[in-house]
Amino acid sequence: MSRSAELARLIRDRAGAAPPDCALVLGSGLGHLGSMVRGVAIPYADLDGFPHAGVSGHVPQLFIGTLEGRRVAVLGGRAHYYETGRADAMRLPLEVLAELGCERLVLTNAAGSLRDDLPPGSLMLLSDHIAFAGANPLIGEATDARFVPMTDAHDPALRAALREAAAAEGVDLPEGVYCWFSGPSFETPAEIRAARVLGADAVGMSTVPEIILARFMGLRCAAVSVITNMGAGLSAERISHDHTKAMAPVGARKLEQVLRRFLRD
Ligand code: HPA
Repeated sequence: MSRSAELARLIRDRAGAAPPDCALVLGSGLGHLGSMVRGVAIPYADLDGFPHAGVSGHVPQLFIGTLEGRRVAVLGGRAHYYETGRADAMRLPLEVLAELGCERLVLTNAAGSLRDDLPPGSLMLLSDHIAFAGANPLIGEATDARFVPMTDAHDPALRAALREAAAAEGVDLPEGVYCWFSGPSFETPAEIRAARVLGADAVGMSTVPEIILARFMGLRCAAVSVITNMGAGLSAERISHDHTKAMAPVGARKLEQVLRRFLRD
């Protein structure tokens, strides 16, 4: 039995066999959203191969149960490319979601803004992305399945549902392009200017490899950024991880409203 099948069996034993309607991945400072789930929380440490060294501001637990009447699986923390140099760091958790029968995935992250009309505290729905880090989680994959089309990687129907949920809640949810930098150092002002010229609206250090992996596995996905700061050089504020963690909860309240409505409807 594959490792993902074994883990899926362990999870079903603890949480029941019903497949999740939707999975969520929580970004920096957003981990507490997992506690909204009525069900069980399984520490990543119990799930052999799940990343649990982690980054502060993440909650390394899999929450599985119901939220707003829907069966959900919530990954409270993620591993990043910059932790190990492996772009496929989230492969096993995503394989387990697929193994559990989950078909939809909504990813969240904290991001820096390149746009004046996207100030800290706002949300941005990813319309598309740029894999500027230059890595790809499918390098080394041996079959032709590795040639994953990415045209509608940010699923139009899921995005429409998220926009409708936001509108119903009175929350602004503009769309924009997310540019993936490897981190862990933040960008330079010149890199931020370059990302703008390339057509990006926000920058961050996650999500893109997960979208690529999820599409490879056939999951439909969408992603929402919580803007925690302006990109380097665009404002006088000092960028830091502490600042990210302090600002994330501001947007997280709106994100929670949108996600709850999205699940309910
Ligand atoms: N750059 C990259 N990642 C981030 C930022 C940023 O400015 N803010 C939050 N995550």
